[in-house]
Amino acid sequence: MAAKSTIYSEGGKVRRVVVVGGGLAGLMTVIKLCEAKVPVDLLSLVPVKRSHSVCAQGGINASVNTKGEGDSPQVHLEETAYGGDFLADQPPIKGMAEAAPGIVFMLDRMGVPFNRTPEGLLDFRRFGGTLFHRTAFAGATTGQQLLYALDEQVRRFETMDVTDEHGVAIPGEKLVRKFEFWDFLSAVLDDSGTCVGCVAQDMKTMQIKSFPADAVVLATGGNGIIFGRATLSVICTGTAAASVYQQGACYANGEFIQVHPTAIPGADKLRLISESARGEGGRVWVPKDKKDARHPREIPEKDRDYFLERMYPGYGNLVPRDIASRAIFKTCFHEGRGILNSKTGKNENEVYLDLTHKDESFLRSKLAGILEIYEKFAGTDPYKNPMKVFPAVHYSMGGLWVDYEKDARGSLKTGSPRNHSTNIAGLYAVGESDFAYHGANRLGANSLLSCIYGGMATGPSVATYRKNLEKSALDLPRSIFEKAEKREQEKYEGILKMNQDKSNTENPYRLHQELGDTMLRDCTIERDNKTLDKVLEKITELDERAKNIKCPDDSPRTNQGAQFTRHFQNMLVLARVVAQGARNRDESRGAHYKPAFEKRNDADWMRTTLAMHKGVGKVEYVRQLSYTIGGKSIERTDAVDVSLVAPRERKYEQAGAASAAATGKLPDNKTQDAQKA
Ligand code: FUM
Repeated sequence: MAAKSTIYSEGGKVRRVVVVGGGLAGLMTVIKLCEAKVPVDLLSLVPVKRSHSVCAQGGINASVNTKGEGDSPQVHLEETAYGGDFLADQPPIKGMAEAAPGIVFMLDRMGVPFNRTPEGLLDFRRFGGTLFHRTAFAGATTGQQLLYALDEQVRRFETMDVTDEHGVAIPGEKLVRKFEFWDFLSAVLDDSGTCVGCVAQDMKTMQIKSFPADAVVLATGGNGIIFGRATLSVICTGTAAASVYQQGACYANGEFIQVHPTAIPGADKLRLISESARGEGGRVWVPKDKKDARHPREIPEKDRDYFLERMYPGYGNLVPRDIASRAIFKTCFHEGRGILNSKTGKNENEVYLDLTHKDESFLRSKLAGILEIYEKFAGTDPYKNPMKVFPAVHYSMGGLWVDYEKDARGSLKTGSPRNHSTNIAGLYAVGESDFAYHGANRLGANSLLSCIYGGMATGPSVATYRKNLEKSALDLPRSIFEKAEKREQEKYEGILKMNQDKSNTENPYRLHQELGDTMLRDCTIERDNKTLDKVLEKITELDERAKNIKCPDDSPRTNQGAQFTRHFQNMLVLARVVAQGARNRDESRGAHYKPAFEKRNDADWMRTTLAMHKGVGKVEYVRQLSYTIGGKSIERTDAVDVSLVAPRERKYEQAGAASAAATGKLPDNKTQDAQKA
């Protein structure tokens, strides 16, 4: 039996849902909840407008087919399934691909300054893994424009009153209450294991506080900082996902980490140079002669090796990211043909990404945002000189396992409380923190889409879940929340006190550097079982040494040292999930490549990796999951739903290979397009 009111608890307080994370996925979830008149507490570690979505550059996919190429949501679905090497359940992808055109039109109406064609239509560019112009873009700062647009919508809800069942405003209660600079610590679970809120810490005052909530949605992004240096913001440590994983949430496909082919090498951070640079005609090359010491502008065409175009004549520079990154790695690392450093005489791990053949005004209108970044950090003018780039960790295809319910068409059943639910009832995940849309390799520009579509699916799902609850979290004994607050307070004080009177202690930043070095070197583009065993040993060693950390900061306010120590402890937990998952999976699929197991092995491995935490240093990989939601018991397995696009071998040498996945036909006009590019 559902509770008497969806607005008030029995004690007369306003019932709320918590959304953690103010990036695109979180904000879209908030918008959908507010449209359903569900009051929200929005928690964010940073100012919402500084969430990692702001860093997205190249665009958002939608098969609008403005250029009359024959693109469609069906082809988008096929190419996403194919690009992901058939590890993604296909119903969520179908829902996403079908919703995409409407999402881009909605963003346009919200005021996103998308680039337009001379006729005034939305412009679309090419991205990896497709020959269609499918990517809508706002210069090369698309994530920022989208984030600001959704932020404006949410600000509107921040000023709107919560209304009661009769439509009367409840004094002092706004639809959205925003809490910026709050760090998620853990979920609050009731006696039956249902999520009834969360505990978070105010990073200004260090106050630890519980937030009772009818449901909690984690939209907390990826975990790339486990690898030390990445294109991700330093907040992307995966700490929230790691925390609920330790509370019983399943973590899926952790081993699938995307390495983006083109970033600016750097000692502190690896800054992305968008795939859109190649989408707009950028070409990747190295000198044919590895000892060629000439300035790149002096090296004529005949002396350049455009190796991606040579190896993949169909897709050229726009093969999917896993393939492009491996080719660059092979060229530099195995063949020693990276750009010559004339000072040291060594070939560096760098290749040229060249846009100098393009007209400057064209580049300014399409790519100014990233070219400015390059000039600032590399100190060279990319309009006049080829850029120097190398692959960098960029995205986690894996994440918290989330459920879905299929409709009769094989898409997502709108409003099912199962959509985006983790295996802990009342706890949802969306955006990069879930595993749902990209399988073994994400296609470029599908991430902004999956964040927004995921939010559009999660909002209604949570609204239904909440409507059916027998009791609000607010009507549970207060002691549940006090206990959770106390547990987190003790953990925090434990970090502050740890080893304060000892010498020869460990520094968390230094340990993190060691973790990052190991993970980056041995757990990214190429993987080998013996090396992965060493990675796991290193993680065990770091687990041990982490006990000897002395918190590098004792300030009572804004204590980032204590916060980092906590995040580092959680990074160790997820690093093990990634490395052990990679060690177990003896095949090559998408971003997971083991030269010793060169082929994809569908018979044994076309299955979702389901990791469960079993105490410090222990991961159990299960084949089945069960949980109860709305009084219904749900049984799921690791089988991948490939009912919409039949699995076939990936071959990007041929033009149109991806879109021919289901039809068996190659789009002839696309072959010509690829040749022109
Ligand atoms: O290359 C890029 O602009 C990144 C886009 C993405 O990760 O989807």
